[in-house]
Amino acid sequence: MAAADVHLMDFQNIFSLEGKVAVVTGGSRGFGLQVASGFLQAGCSKIYITSREAKACEEAIDALNALPSKRPDAKAIAIPADCSTISELDRLAAEVAETTDHVDILFANAGATWGAPFEKTAPDTFSKVMDLNVKSVFYTIQKLEPLLKKNATNDDPSRVIVTASITGVGLGTLGQNATFAYSASKAAVIHLVKNLAVDLGPRGIITNAICPGFFPTKMASSLVEMQGGFEVLRQETPNRRVGQPEDIAGMVVFLSSRASRHLNGAVIAIDGGHILNKGKL
Ligand SMILES: NC(=O)c1ccc[n+]([C@@H]2O[C@H](COP(=O)([O-])OP(=O)(O)OC[C@H]3O[C@@H](n4cnc5c(N)ncnc54)[C@H](OP(=O)(O)O)[C@@H]3O)[C@@H](O)[C@H]2O)c1
Repeated sequence: MAAADVHLMDFQNIFSLEGKVAVVTGGSRGFGLQVASGFLQAGCSKIYITSREAKACEEAIDALNALPSKRPDAKAIAIPADCSTISELDRLAAEVAETTDHVDILFANAGATWGAPFEKTAPDTFSKVMDLNVKSVFYTIQKLEPLLKKNATNDDPSRVIVTASITGVGLGTLGQNATFAYSASKAAVIHLVKNLAVDLGPRGIITNAICPGFFPTKMASSLVEMQGGFEVLRQETPNRRVGQPEDIAGMVVFLSSRASRHLNGAVIAIDGGHILNKGKL
């Protein structure tokens, strides 16, 4: 056996994000805040979080900056912005560029949903969901691309990780709280990720999508309760658990680390196999 086959290079640090700079949209709560916490605890030196509400962003960075297990010099910075507006995305990118000359990781995660039966699904809510969940994801990436490519190489690529949803792979919620626009938007953003993976890959930016099932965040909790609650969800899920914050943070840290640098255009379900079980007769 060749020595090179057993002595993997610097394997102890393969999941480390030591010194990396990340931007997290929808970072004030839910997945965004959980992932920002994971980024800092995995070694990031700077995290920018954004969402519309300035107060919520400030509270989030206070909690992040108080984390005992982050690097002592690591910092979370809040830049409140409405990601559904192009001028706000320009401002976000400009304000990020004031305090860093590059970005290594973009977690494009801000998203919204709307539930209504077929007959009552209104055009303005449909457009709002598509705008934030698809168009704004594209333009967030476009506006931050100059910073993302600054230090990127094909061997050490920058990362874009997009929060899609398992509803973009299978069906969304139907009936009284149907989420037609939401599931269509998540299917669209998965396709966007595949196109971006091919277009941005050569310049050292790799793009992947995560597809969570239902998790207990502000967005999903009431919808799950309407469908019977998290205990019913747990019973329907093949691994008999409900997703926890660590399950998302762990996957996004992995997708930001050296361990995943050969994944590009991947679409990763994080649902305990729930979608597979739903498809059975
Ligand atoms: N939870 C689930 O079960 C689940 C499952 C699959 C996919 N997802 C996806 O996961 C992502 C995060 O959702 P979550 O569950 O963590 O929900 P959440 O707790 O409601 O968080 C949503 C975040 O997005 C921000 N946001 C909303 N509209 C925004 C806008 N126009 N501009 C900037 N920020 C905005 C919110 O802050 P402000 O309101 O202050 O702006 C908040 O920080 C979404 O893309 C969602 O579709 C969630």
